[in-house]
Amino acid sequence: MKENIILRHKVVKCLRDFLDARGFVEIETPILIKSTPEGARDFLVPSRLQPGKFYALPQSPQQLKQLLMVAGFEKYYQVARCFRDEDLRADRQLEFTQLDIEMSFVEEDDILHLMEDMFVSLVETVKPSMKLPKPFPRLSYDDVMERYGTDKPDIRFGLELSDLTEIVAGSEFGVFRSAINGGGKVRGFRAPGCGTYTRRQLDELIDLSKSFGAKGLVALALVKGSGGVAVDKASSAAARFLTSEEINKMADRLGAEAGDLLLIVSDKTGVVNKVLDQLRREMGRRLGLVDRNVLAVAFIVDFPLFEWNEEEKRWQASHHPFTAPRDEDLPMLETSPARIRAKCYDIICNGYELSSGSIRIHNRDIQEKVFTLLGYDRERVQRLFGHMLEAFEYGAPPHGGVAPGIDRVVMLLAGEESIREVIAFPKNQAGGDLTFDAPSEVSDEQLLELHLARREDP
Ligand code: AMO
Repeated sequence: MKENIILRHKVVKCLRDFLDARGFVEIETPILIKSTPEGARDFLVPSRLQPGKFYALPQSPQQLKQLLMVAGFEKYYQVARCFRDEDLRADRQLEFTQLDIEMSFVEEDDILHLMEDMFVSLVETVKPSMKLPKPFPRLSYDDVMERYGTDKPDIRFGLELSDLTEIVAGSEFGVFRSAINGGGKVRGFRAPGCGTYTRRQLDELIDLSKSFGAKGLVALALVKGSGGVAVDKASSAAARFLTSEEINKMADRLGAEAGDLLLIVSDKTGVVNKVLDQLRREMGRRLGLVDRNVLAVAFIVDFPLFEWNEEEKRWQASHHPFTAPRDEDLPMLETSPARIRAKCYDIICNGYELSSGSIRIHNRDIQEKVFTLLGYDRERVQRLFGHMLEAFEYGAPPHGGVAPGIDRVVMLLAGEESIREVIAFPKNQAGGDLTFDAPSEVSDEQLLELHLARREDP
């Protein structure tokens, strides 16, 4: 743990030196501020001086850094603490640190080149023994969703997914048929040499699939058959319902041969992708394909600007509402929002999202149109973002930025699997600080001063 904390110190120093040498200015921004929507829940702080009012802790300094661009600082950065009240995971804490960066007069390429140079210099300085293949590939969102089922694939190994929907479209097998009739997909991948998996090993994979939302998993162990391959009947009850033509076509599509195991999921596209992504990661580990000494970094580009929230029946920003649409897609703001691509990029490494960023909207009209599309009415826009719109009136320079998560960067460099291992005094799974026993009760006097009253939870 001590080594990790010292590594963290070296990482932050190296990043500061790198940016300082390129003319960036580190600027601290306030922690007591107002809601800055990044898609999570805010932490609120009651105001003593203004009864009934609250500050929100920043989910990121997004709006502040954009305002600094309008103010004429062309290159900003900050080692910025961010706060998000969301469920904790191995790579998520309630408070975490970003290397927050913003620049004026830049395009996507400028920022991606800067990031590549920065990560190369970082690894050379603090972990020269680790391999960092470069140049970092640029993969489109559609491409990685198709090949890996996720926008943050571990690209240290293959096991790529293929679509089988069309091959089994007329299948007798009810599970496939009902998924396809419901507008879903049948997709899968090949686990080389795993055709000898035992019942117990197969059941583990089925349980894993179910824990990520699948109704089941079709695991077909391939053996030599007449005219190609056949399924070892013992591996799967589904085999009875599949013709040898279907089996051979699927094996062909997945590049499989006798001795391999086919892992196939059918459901709504979102479920299929989520489950296959997890299965692929699991098989990568089981097959020893994961080299812990390699940092496989890539840029993911061409994200959609908006995504449809089916539960709430509304559009939401895929990144955040300040991200600029591609110039050529601008006219579609009025006609087909789903097709607009964003000037947005993620940096991924070994299956984790290290960073996201974008070129921003710097024009009041376009920003207002985006807010309208996201369902904000005029009053709410004015109340929440009036300061941004007003700033744009003063002539905002074109600008963009990026924000690598320092905790995740250090975690990967340290070879750890949780950011808790690289944070001094981290919170536990329940959001608790065990050293101070926080959060904790406060006295009635403190509540009174803050104009708050205790209420029984209904
Ligand atoms: P985003 O929300 O993608 O972008 O966050 C950027 C990076 O911050 C890290 N991160 C986290 N790390 C630990 N715990 C968390 N709860 C957590 N949430 C995020 C990740 C992530 O990639 N303002 C934009 C950036 C920009 O557009 O410039 C933003 O915050 O590594």
